[in-house]
Amino acid sequence: MDINGKTQILGIFGNPIGHTSSPIMHMSAINALKLNYVYVPFLVELNNLEFAVKAIRALNIKGVNITIPFKEKIIPYLDELDQTAEEVKAVNTVVNKSGKLVGYNTDGDGFIYDLKKNKIELKAKKIVLIGAGGAAKSIAISLLKQKPKNLILVNRTKNRLDALKKLLQTKTELSISTYSLIDPNIKEYLNDADIIINTTSLGMEPNIHESPIQDFSFIRRGQVFYDIIYKPNLTYFLKNAQEKGVLTINGLGMLIGQGAIAFQLFTGLEPPIGIMKKALLFN
Ligand code: ATR
Repeated sequence: MDINGKTQILGIFGNPIGHTSSPIMHMSAINALKLNYVYVPFLVELNNLEFAVKAIRALNIKGVNITIPFKEKIIPYLDELDQTAEEVKAVNTVVNKSGKLVGYNTDGDGFIYDLKKNKIELKAKKIVLIGAGGAAKSIAISLLKQKPKNLILVNRTKNRLDALKKLLQTKTELSISTYSLIDPNIKEYLNDADIIINTTSLGMEPNIHESPIQDFSFIRRGQVFYDIIYKPNLTYFLKNAQEKGVLTINGLGMLIGQGAIAFQLFTGLEPPIGIMKKALLFN
């Protein structure tokens, strides 16, 4: 990679930022397509977020990804939101369109992209979504557009569960049910589901022995287990499902999916997805 006077700048705003895989993934795509771009991590302090966003314009940065904890907080500083970001009320990608800063959210579509890639149909399927945070919201909104048969939300904290249900119910005619993670009948709902998705942080490094579910005796043939966590690559949740012989998918494909859609928004070019995946796997 040679930097010269015409190099265009991309990056990611977050705090902390040291753990991010996005520079590796985007730089692999930039290098593969021989583009004159650079993608860098920016550690932004919360009280500097407004200045950091103004700097996108001031420094002619072409685009940035947004990660924890700024996905919602950045919204007041942007000029425009696309429809999905508006619906989710969270932004993970900002594109500088000649000084106009437009916010997008590619997380939910990244998830759908990965399911399609794994040839998993959502239409008419019974789905259990565990978690009610930002990731659950993005995924649920994209998922409902695929016309599942039903959607059950499960979470530890009731008020977040109720808030997510209320939001989703404004977008669908499906009746969405909600249950506590410790509901005594949870095994029945889990047994009845076609696809079970973990969007909580339980099981993420370093807490690799945690899982939103402890008892896996409900598992039946044909179910699909999806965990949006990608470190470790086989969470306790997926390991237990795998041992019962059902299909398991980790969050690497969703990470690539959201990154690939963001790359296309930044550059207007088709992302080299295989290369982006390889870069993540070998780093
Ligand atoms: P993200 O943007 O990654 O979704 P988040 O908005 O903080 O992050 O949401 C984290 C999710 O993980 C929530 O569903 C949270 O449950 P609560 O709403 O009850 O907080 C879930 N979660 C995190 N730690 C948990 C734990 N120890 N037990 C159960 N659920 C947990």
